[in-house]
Amino acid sequence: MSDSQGIEGLEEARALLAEAERVCVLSGAGVSAESGVPTFRGEDGLWKNYRAEELATPQAFRRDPRMVWEWYDWRRGKIGGCSPNPGHYALARLALGPKSVSIVTQNVDGLHEAAAREVAGAADPSPALPLEVHGSIFRVKCTACTYKIPHRDPVRWETEAVLPKCPVCGALLRPDVVWFGESLDPMVLTEAFDSARNATLCLVAGTSALVQPAASVPLATLENGGSIVEINPTETPLSGMATFSLRGGSGAILPQLVEGLTEAGG
Ligand code: APR
Repeated sequence: MSDSQGIEGLEEARALLAEAERVCVLSGAGVSAESGVPTFRGEDGLWKNYRAEELATPQAFRRDPRMVWEWYDWRRGKIGGCSPNPGHYALARLALGPKSVSIVTQNVDGLHEAAAREVAGAADPSPALPLEVHGSIFRVKCTACTYKIPHRDPVRWETEAVLPKCPVCGALLRPDVVWFGESLDPMVLTEAFDSARNATLCLVAGTSALVQPAASVPLATLENGGSIVEINPTETPLSGMATFSLRGGSGAILPQLVEGLTEAGG
C-alpha cells in the first residue's frame, strides 16, 4: 500500500516503527545529501578531480600531508556552511522521544549532533547524539600520541606554511576520521553492534551499504530476530533483507515515518 505521496510501504513501515521497542538507526551520506554535503560515490564527491578514495588514506597523507590538509579544509568549509535537514531533525525528535533509540552514523559532518542539540534545546541532547563510527571532520588528532581536539578553522597556508603539529609531542596532527584501509575504533564498533543486536528494528537511511564493517550493523539486528526498514532512492545490497525498503529521499520520508512517535504516549 502506498501513502499520499506514493511511497510504497510507508504506512506499514510506520506501523512497524510504532510497535518497535528499541530502534537502532544506521545513517550514511545520503541523509546529509539534502543539506548540500557531497556524498562519497555521488557525482558531487570530487575535489581537484580526486575521488575521496584517493585522498582519505594514510598513504595519501604520508605522500602529501599538505594536500590532504587542504582537502579537509575545503570539506570543512563546504560542510561548515551546511545545516541539518528535516531528516536529521526527524531522527533527533525520535531519539529524544519516548522510544529507546541509538543513532549510528557513518557521516563525519556533525549534522546529526547539530540537529540533536537544536531539538533538545535546554534539555539533555545525549539520547540523540550519534555514535560516529568514522569519526568527525571537525576534530583533529595526533598521529603519535592520544591528543585529540575539536578543529574548524582552515590552515592559513600563506602565513603558516607549516603543517599543524601536536602541542603535546610535536608530531603531525591529522583529521580524526577513519581513512580507507584503517580500522575503526574497536570500542565504538562494539557499541554500534551492541546497539544493533539489542534493537528490534534497524532503520537504515542514506547509505549504499558497501563499506564494511558499518554495512553489517543492520545484520546484527536481523540475526537477533529484529527487522530492517531502509530509506534510499535506489536499491542497495540491504534492500532484499529489509522488511520495507522505502524509495525516496530521507528528508521527505523520515519526518513522515516518525510522525506521532516523538511525543510521550506516541
Ligand atoms: N536520501 C536518502 N538516501 C540518499 C539520498 C537522499 N536524499 N541521496 C542519495 N542517497 C543514497 C544513495 O542512493 C546512496 O545509496 O545515499 C547513498 C550514499 O552512498 P555513499 O556515497 O556510498 O555513502 P555512504 O554509504 O555513507 O558511504 C559509506 O564510505 O566513503 C566512505 O567513510 C565514507 O562513511 C562513508 C562510507
